Amino acid sequence: MEQTDKVYLYGASGHAKVVRDIVKLSYIDVQCLIDDNPEVNELDGLTVVHSAEGLSPIIVTIGDCLMRRKIVEKLGDREYMTVVHPKAILADSVKLGMGTVVMAGALLNPYTVVGDHCIINTGASLDHDVKIGDFVHIAPHCTVCGGSEVGGGTWLGAGSTVIQGVKIGMDCYIGAGSVVVKDIPDGCLCYGNPARVIKQINNMNMTMQKIELGGGKKRFFSLECGYSLERRVAA
Ligand SMILES: CC(C)(COP(=O)(O)OP(=O)(O)OC[C@H]1O[C@@H](n2cnc3c(N)ncnc32)[C@H](O)[C@@H]1OP(=O)(O)O)[C@@H](O)C(=O)NCCC(=O)NCCS
Repeated sequence: MEQTDKVYLYGASGHAKVVRDIVKLSYIDVQCLIDDNPEVNELDGLTVVHSAEGLSPIIVTIGDCLMRRKIVEKLGDREYMTVVHPKAILADSVKLGMGTVVMAGALLNPYTVVGDHCIINTGASLDHDVKIGDFVHIAPHCTVCGGSEVGGGTWLGAGSTVIQGVKIGMDCYIGAGSVVVKDIPDGCLCYGNPARVIKQINNMNMTMQKIELGGGKKRFFSLECGYSLERRVAA
């Protein structure tokens, strides 16, 4: 990507406030925010617009992994900015994908690879040779030990620990404070110490039913397993 001094944040959320703070430290201006909710017109003193037409580069600032992926799919071929807080520590050999953000205090050790549109949140630690897929959210103060893998679209809840060499599948939700000690298949809701599979939430895109809640929110529930979750949703 060419050197630029401006960026647009898609998702007028609390997470956007944190990302704005990081880009400011790199002397980059957030021009405005973009949000699908027509009722949101201002955040953090910035104007919120409701179309991303012609705007670039973008960072999608939505913590929810499924929503982040849906927005990127909707935007199509765009330029995305990758940002790293100056007080994060990254080994030279670390690779970060486009649109990924790394928050303050995060620590990424040698040969760790992070995919596109990921969030490596405040104080998270990714040790050596860790592989993080696209659209992953590693929530604040997680510890992922050496050689472990987190599949695309997975949310690792705040303060979770993944021991060395473990493989977590795609599109999983790992509850806050979990301790993952063995492999987890795709599409599972897990939590606890040791983390156990509570439910399969496979094919969320395909099988989740939606109920409109208003205010840009919907409740998703699965007819297959009864799993239910409230989310902000793109139009
Ligand atoms: C795992 C999670 C997604 C489950 O949400 P949910 O399906 O709405 O679950 P509920 O709140 O209805 O709780 C259902 C049961 O699971 C238990 N539970 C929920 N999350 C748990 C967790 N992380 N660890 C242990 N038990 C948990 C609840 O105590 C409850 O038990 P009960 O039936 O005995 O009362 C959610 O609790 C969670 O941990 N989210 C991660 C949040 C996070 O890390 N945010 C970071 C923001 S950057």
